[in-house]
This record gives sequence, structure tokens and C-alpha cells, in this order.
Amino acid sequence: MVLPRYFLAIKVVRVLLRAPAVDSGSMTSKAPFKIVLLRCGLRCGRMVLGWTIALASFSFMPTCAQAEDLTALGGDLSSDLPGRNAIQVVAPNVTDGDRRAAQIAGFSPFHRIRDRSDGLGPRFINKSCGGCHVNNGRGPTTLSSAATNGSAMVVKVKRPGLRSDGSIREVRGVGSQVLDHNLRGDRSRSVKLSWRSISGTYRDGTPYRLRRPKLSFSSALRLPASTVVSLRMSPAVIGMGLLEAISDETVIAASDPYDSNGDGISGRVAMVPDRATGDRVVGRFGFKATEPSVVQQSAAALYHDMQITNPLFFNSPSRIEVSQESLHSLAIYLRLAGVPKARDQQNTSVVAGQEVFTGLGCEACHTKTVTTSATYQDPELRNQTIHPFTDLLLHDMGSGLADGWSEFSAGGREWRTAPLWGLGFAAQLSERSPVYLHDGRARSIEEAILWHGGEAAAAQRGFTDLSAVERQQLLDFLASL
Ligand code: HEC
Ligand code: HEC
Repeated sequence: MVLPRYFLAIKVVRVLLRAPAVDSGSMTSKAPFKIVLLRCGLRCGRMVLGWTIALASFSFMPTCAQAEDLTALGGDLSSDLPGRNAIQVVAPNVTDGDRRAAQIAGFSPFHRIRDRSDGLGPRFINKSCGGCHVNNGRGPTTLSSAATNGSAMVVKVKRPGLRSDGSIREVRGVGSQVLDHNLRGDRSRSVKLSWRSISGTYRDGTPYRLRRPKLSFSSALRLPASTVVSLRMSPAVIGMGLLEAISDETVIAASDPYDSNGDGISGRVAMVPDRATGDRVVGRFGFKATEPSVVQQSAAALYHDMQITNPLFFNSPSRIEVSQESLHSLAIYLRLAGVPKARDQQNTSVVAGQEVFTGLGCEACHTKTVTTSATYQDPELRNQTIHPFTDLLLHDMGSGLADGWSEFSAGGREWRTAPLWGLGFAAQLSERSPVYLHDGRARSIEEAILWHGGEAAAAQRGFTDLSAVERQQLLDFLASL
């Protein structure tokens, strides 16, 4: 990392010194004394400037390459409470009594098992938000008609093509998601998940194995052959408010749709409808960034996963099963919850791993540091310096991860950069080993990196070229988040 900067610094000095002093064609030795003096002054100035830049690059650049202490992943919202408390309990900087109470009040609507009196069903995938976002963390790959409270994964279905507004075309008689559970206990709409194994090798000869999901549908669903299917695992709901508090301008400024800087990475902004206002706004939630806000994402979950109508998603305005207050309570619960602190930031392997992460170019998408908006609705979340490790942009991740599912701005090969805060913390939240990527195909963080392709192909290749020691350092760093 230091060497190219050294050459860059030398180049800067050379270019500055070589550049013609003033409009050189007309300047001769006969030039008046004043101009000679000016020319000399300019040259000296440039030389001083050149060397200043060079020296600055020497003293400043290497410190940039050095690992940062990322302990406070969520700025002032970072929590060191043990286990799930770190992400369920109100963040430490929320000190106002009423606001603390409002966050606490959202726990029940999120974790409570709903029934018919709450408007649940008749069909549903799971009876509670927490049944999928287990302990507010990532869910298991449960897709089982035998599970009492439901499945923890979502099977999205649509007809090919999109409507003129970019929304999907539902499958007749099924909708946009397979609701595999029913209040009557009818399990005829079950989906079976199995795995296909794939193998590969690192450059040093170490073999690895990956798996890819395969779904089979019960015939009762009668899905047309042209149906587009996308399997999604339940992501952790960590730092939702802070992701919402990153301004649209910040997200847009990081985008590079035509790859004008030529680094092979072209993040695109997802533009999606805000259902409350009808405006097109920046999408940030969901694996394809199809929802713009925590409120809308929560309302979509109520409607699509549980068939509970609400002020944002309903069939008839006269039949709303969850009130505006109740919906907002869910959103406040998620927005004001803590973000787990990173651990072991002084550990030498973790420090080295952060440098490997930077060196491989992972930060081109997994943005290390962002400052939230100064005008966001929740005062506790304003002006926070955070380390979410996402640019919230859509990236082509290659054919290996492609699901052919397009929706609004997102194409069939595109995914929103997954935030990496809370990545290693996931292991503390459940007994079973956590799974990764949009469909839970990765059984380890290592497998998740190996699946990267498309715009991330160079970073993936860099990873497979690492020595076993460097690989371990990178994984130690990611596990510390
Ligand atoms: C059946 C499982 C399931 C249930 C029930 C469920 N979710 Fe989700 N949740 C998901 C999946 C899958 C996604 C990713 C969706 C996508 O890719 O579009 C998600 C995404 C989210 C996100 C955005 C996370 C991110 O990083 O973008 C939030 C917030 C959220 N859910 C909140 C809720 C709330 C609130 C409820 C209850 C009202 C709920 N969910 C119920 C499965 C579930
Ligand atoms: C071109 C952008 C891009 C680059 C470069 C990139 N990633 Fe990713 N990363 C993504 C996207 C998009 C996802 C989500 C993919 C999915 O869910 O299918 C992701 C997912 C992940 C995940 C899984 C997260 C989870 O919660 O499931 C890990 C771990 C990860 N990346 C690590 C890395 C590392 C380490 C590097 C560098 C070697 C890297 N990424 C480079 C875009 C990128």
C-alpha cells in the first residue's frame, strides 16, 4: 500500500516541476525583470507545493493505511450490553425518558406471536417479526411447514417483467410471496429447500466447498413455469435508524453508475416509491434496497409476510388492522435500538486483517465510515460517525449470486451492499452457526466472500490469492465486527 503512494508522490513533484512556468512560448531571456521574478516565484511556489504534497503523502498516507479503531461501530448508539441486549435495548445515548419508553414499547409488537385477533392470516409465513429476525439478528434457513409459528425465510415469486412503475407482477392465486402457513393448519403450499454442493480451490491449493439452494414447490401452488423465484433469508435488524439517517445526498454522491473512475465498480442508487407521499426516493432496505424507510419496510412485512393490513399496505381503506401508532412503534423500536460495539480492535491479527480488507478493495462497496445527516428526524441519530460497511448502493454481483429478480431500479444480478456491522456478533445471538448472503447459502463468512463476483470479482480473486495467514487475519477482522 505504501509503495504506490511513494511513486504517486514522486510523480506529483515531477509533474509540478516540469510544467511550463508561464506561457513559455513568448517568454525569452529578454523578458522584463518583473516577469522573470514572477516566473521564478511561480517555479519556487510550485516546487514548495510539490514537495509539501510529497511530504504530506509520506507522513499522512501511511497512517491512512493503518487500521482504525472501529469499536464504536454505531457512533454514540454503540452498546456493550451482553448478547442480544446490545441490539434490542434502547441505545445508550437515548436519554430522554419518553423516548426510551417509546423504544421499549416497541419490543412487544416486534416479538409478540400474533393471532387472528391481530389480523393475522388466513395465510402467513411467520406469526411474529422476531420469529424470522431471531433475537433481532439474522434468521435460520428454516423453510418448513412443520414449524409451528412459521418459516424464517421468504420465497418471493413473480411473473416475468415489471409494471410501468417498476413494481413486480404478482402470480395469480399466489401473490408475490409463497405464504406457506395457514391458520387452519393447511400445509399444502409447502416449499422444500435442498442444497447443491460446488467445490473450488484457493491459489495455495487449499480446497473449499460451497452450496447453492434448490427449491421444490408443492403441486398445489400451481406455479407457471415462467415464474421468477427469489429466496431470501431474514437479515439482522441492526442500526436500522442509522442507515435511514444517512442522507440521500451521501448515498447519491457515492454512486458511480457509469464507472467513471474506471475501478470496475459502479454502484447504482435504488429509486423506489415512498408509499406515504407517492414520491420516488432513495431505497435502502431489503436485499435489493426496495424499501425507503424502516416504517415502510415494517408495513410491507406486516402485509406480505402476515397478511396484516396497515396504513401503508391495505386492500380497502375501511379495513386497516394495525394502526399508524402501532406501525410507528415498531419503527421506533428498531431505530432507537443499540448497535453492538466491535470487539478486539487491538488484537494484532484483527489490526492486520483490517489492512487486508482495505488492500483487497472491499471498501469500494463496504464503506467503512459515514456521517449521518444533521437534520434526521431522531436527534440522537444526527451527526453520528458510524462504520456500517455499506454504501447502500446496488452492485452487479455476477451470475453466481444472480436470481433474475428485478424490481424498481434493481436488476436480476444486483444486490445492495450488505452492512457488515454486527457480522461477527451474530454468533453470540444463537446456538446454531449463523448463515450469510441473501439466501443463507454461505455457512461461514469465508464462503460469503468466495461467492462474490461481478463488480466484486477482483476483490474475490484477491481473497483467493491470499496466504492462509492473511485469510485468517481478514476473517478475524470481520469476526470482530
Ligand atoms: C417470514 C420472515 C419475516 C418476517 C415475519 C418479518 N421479516 Fe423482516 N425481513 C425478512 C426478509 C427476508 C427481509 C429481506 C427482504 C428483502 O430482501 O426484500 C427482511 C427485511 C427487514 C428489514 C430491513 C433489513 C435491512 O437490512 O434491509 C426490516 C427493518 C424488517 N425486515 C423488519 C421487520 C418487521 C418490523 C417485521 C414484523 C412486522 C418483520 N420484519 C417480519 C423476513 C421477515
Ligand atoms: C462490488 C461491491 C462489493 C465488493 C467489492 C465487496 N462486497 Fe461484500 N457484499 C457486496 C454485496 C452486494 C453483498 C450482498 C450479496 C448477497 O447478499 O447476495 C455482500 C456481502 C458480503 C458479506 C456477507 C454479509 C452478510 O451479512 O451476509 C460479506 C462477509 C462480505 N460481503 C465481505 C466482503 C469482503 C471481505 C470483501 C473484499 C474481499 C467484499 N465483501 C467486497 C458487495 C461487495
